[in-house]
Amino acid sequence: MYSSRRTQILKLGLWLSFVILKSVEGLEWCKLHCPDGSENTMCKYKPLSGTNNCTEIRESTTPTVRREMLELHNAFRNALAGGNIPGWPKAANMKYLTWDGDLEQLALRWAMQCVSGHDECRRTKTFDYVGQNFGMIGNTAFYPSSNISFQGWIDEIKFATGALVKSFQEGKWVHFSQVGWGNTSKIGCGEIRYLDRQLKKTAIVCNYGFSGNLFSVEMYTVGEPCSQCPVGMMCQNASIWPNLCTIPHYVIPRMMESGNQLKLLPNAVPAPGRAPSRLKQVIHQVPIAVLIIFSLY
Ligand SMILES: *[C@@H]1O[C@H](CO)[C@@H](O)[C@H](O)[C@H]1NC(C)=O
Ligand SMILES: *[C@@H]1O[C@H](CO)[C@@H](O)[C@H](O)[C@H]1NC(C)=O
Ligand SMILES: *[C@@H]1O[C@H](CO)[C@@H](O)[C@H](O)[C@H]1NC(C)=O
Ligand SMILES: *[C@@H]1O[C@H](CO)[C@@H](O)[C@H](O)[C@H]1NC(C)=O
Repeated sequence: MYSSRRTQILKLGLWLSFVILKSVEGLEWCKLHCPDGSENTMCKYKPLSGTNNCTEIRESTTPTVRREMLELHNAFRNALAGGNIPGWPKAANMKYLTWDGDLEQLALRWAMQCVSGHDECRRTKTFDYVGQNFGMIGNTAFYPSSNISFQGWIDEIKFATGALVKSFQEGKWVHFSQVGWGNTSKIGCGEIRYLDRQLKKTAIVCNYGFSGNLFSVEMYTVGEPCSQCPVGMMCQNASIWPNLCTIPHYVIPRMMESGNQLKLLPNAVPAPGRAPSRLKQVIHQVPIAVLIIFSLY
């Protein structure tokens, strides 16, 4: 009797502190509005208010999605920095990306609205300016992997030339240039799966801190890889990404468990500089009923 009542009180207490913590969290996000007065995505939108012909929306940001997105990005950055992409100069200061839970939360909240395009305000405690890539892909047979959206982003390299490195301008390459932006150090993506009439769709939003695609700013500094890492950063020559600047002694993780929890796996996934060609193979295996829609910017 006594103990069950105590359990009830405990439960009530836990529930209350959950509610209070939740609303404090909500308030914190609401304080992070943007200079133009627009409300933060985490404050403005509810978790599942998507309509726009989207039904059966499910969150699908699994540990595998996190790991793949992180690795695809770092593999591409490592290849670009190392001068392994014809026509593109080596990068002296390309930063290794790590995962950021706030950026992920924001990305997921926006993805759940099921709108092809971008939100207005995605500021976090750490980053006043956050970049964003959006990709969506549909298939009649199964939910496609977001790595196809990623491939679409980096394929935009064909529209750009190496001149973009010195001074960024807008164009059909903004997804690619955000992926390869040297000063970006954090990424967080949110993925959803849903039905759009007959089509099984996967949409992914990736947020990037500090934002790339800054007008007239260099994408990265040209030079031997790691020769101009930001103060306090250096490259891990023996790692699978030897061309990316990290903090000293940082152990490059191979597997993301959940959120910001990192777990090490013994085997390397993509070999340095190989991700783009591996991805090409993946794309060719996808059945014809594929429809890719990318939003601009
Ligand atoms: C929703 O579906 C209807 C009927 O197919 C179509 O006319 C309309 O444009 C769609 N709306 C959106 C936002 O895609
Ligand atoms: C892309 O996703 C598919 C399906 O999940 C997976 O089999 C494949 O290994 C992925 N490719 C890469 C390069 O991560
Ligand atoms: C580079 O990123 C840092 C934050 O990591 C930011 O404070 C700084 O303004 C950025 N520099 C440029 C040129 O964007
Ligand atoms: C990596 O190699 C470069 C050039 O050989 C060297 O200058 C640098 O000190 C090395 N860094 C580490 C962490 O060993």
